[in-house]
Amino acid sequence: MQQRLLQIKNMVDQEIDNALKNENPLIDALYKSALYSAAGGKRVRAQLHYLVGALFNVPENKMLKSACAIELIHAASLIMDDLPYMKDSQLRRGKPANHVVFGQDVALLASIGLISKALEQVLADDGLSEAEKNKTVATLSASFGFEGLAAGQFVDLKLKHKNVDVEILKFINHKKTAALFLAGAKAAALLGGADAEKLKAVEEFSTNIGFAFQIVNELLESGGRDSLVGKEGEQEKMNFVKLVGEDKAREYLKTFHSAARKSLTAFGTAADELNLFVDYLIERAL
Ligand code: IPE
Repeated sequence: MQQRLLQIKNMVDQEIDNALKNENPLIDALYKSALYSAAGGKRVRAQLHYLVGALFNVPENKMLKSACAIELIHAASLIMDDLPYMKDSQLRRGKPANHVVFGQDVALLASIGLISKALEQVLADDGLSEAEKNKTVATLSASFGFEGLAAGQFVDLKLKHKNVDVEILKFINHKKTAALFLAGAKAAALLGGADAEKLKAVEEFSTNIGFAFQIVNELLESGGRDSLVGKEGEQEKMNFVKLVGEDKAREYLKTFHSAARKSLTAFGTAADELNLFVDYLIERAL
């Protein structure tokens, strides 16, 4: 399993490097800023995408561009999230945040460029039919628009401490974090021709994984193990762990985890690999 995950990460890293090559010196710093954030992630969203693809027997050559696209959108979202007028984080992955190195103006433009590049990657994929491209682009687009990141970021930004309860935090985590897990998993299931029932199962599964992953991240941050997530503590910002406390957050984590596992029961042993992957993601925090 570890070897498989590493293999996916390496393929995605390489493809992203290729996708962000620039030949115009005028915009060199813009590309550098984009690559700074697009390089170096764990690639869990791409790995999820591949493993869901495997569940539906999608040929590997149809997965790479969409896997990269998901990671490029994720990188764009991290740049935005860290900006001073968003969460105002100075550190990301243990290094200065994008805007600290390149400036807020460049960071914002790099983020827009990354989202655009993500969709271009899918549209330029010769291995996909026009219908497959359309479905993938539509699915990925939903993750960062008014049904995804923009909505989650907006609520997160505007509410801060005030009037936040579990339901609102679930909305934020759904739109900011789970939306990308969902998009990757759903895109893979669609490429595999999933019927409505199986698609629903994959949607439920990946949304619950997104919720769980967010809590894992918060538990790692709050446990003083910031080096594991490479992000400085954001003491003044509200999150799930701060709102309900670590013990209750672990209970929520277990609930999301078992809900995710339950969604996959209909797939039987074919989902063993996916379940292993999810256990591995979640055990980091237990
Ligand atoms: C961090 O995600 C942001 C969250 C939504 C929790 P990851 O932990 O997947 O970030 P990288 O890409 O591996 O750094």
